[in-house]
Amino acid sequence: MLMISDALYLGRGLHKVAYIHPENENLVIKIPFDPKDAELRQELSYRKSRKFRNLDSQLLTKFYGPVETDKGQGYVFERIRNADGTACETLGDYLDAQEAAGWPDKEEVCALLQGFMKQVMDERILTNDTCLINFLLQRNEAGEIRIRIIDNVGSPVKIPLVYYWDHMTVGHIRRYLKRLQRDLQEKYGRDLVLVKS
Ligand SMILES: Nc1ncnc2c1ncn2[C@@H]1O[C@H](COP(=O)(O)OP(=O)(O)O)[C@@H](O)[C@H]1O
Ligand SMILES: [Mg+2]
Repeated sequence: MLMISDALYLGRGLHKVAYIHPENENLVIKIPFDPKDAELRQELSYRKSRKFRNLDSQLLTKFYGPVETDKGQGYVFERIRNADGTACETLGDYLDAQEAAGWPDKEEVCALLQGFMKQVMDERILTNDTCLINFLLQRNEAGEIRIRIIDNVGSPVKIPLVYYWDHMTVGHIRRYLKRLQRDLQEKYGRDLVLVKS
């Protein structure tokens, strides 16, 4: 059993608490408050379906399986942080800061969002998340940004045909991206992004 000290604490949400892996600082261990947490089970079965379909992803964190810890049953994931070791900003905080500063990097922001949306489709990522707290901005050595998804993927439906039938996957993602764009425009202004419909 792995012992996790409180000093390794990274963050928490409504469902899980995340710690740095005690033996590897490039990994995190997530421990659900409820061992039967429905959202986590959804994510795990979604990831299983992606493996079955041989879908690879640069957006999603890598998943390395379950681990027993002294704080309960944990799950090991890739840790997302910037190349300089600092914590990543969420996409929501980034956009709020851009708005507050009068959009100094508007073109960069639009290109980032458009690239992200295209990648969600290309990688067939299923999510309903539009609150942007689970999307992190990861910076490399050159300061270039890419978006990573750390949480809340999959679908809550009982029999997720949408995981396996690509036609349905694509339809779901198209609707999601339109919703995401609409929410972004409502919050940040009409001319922010454009997904082709
Ligand atoms: N892969 C990760 N890399 C770095 N920090 C993470 C990672 N996953 C989660 N965290 C941190 O832990 C918090 C809670 O994790 P999350 O998976 O979002 O749980 P919840 O389901 O409770 O929202 C996140 O908001 C983030 O601060
Ligand atoms: Mg979360």
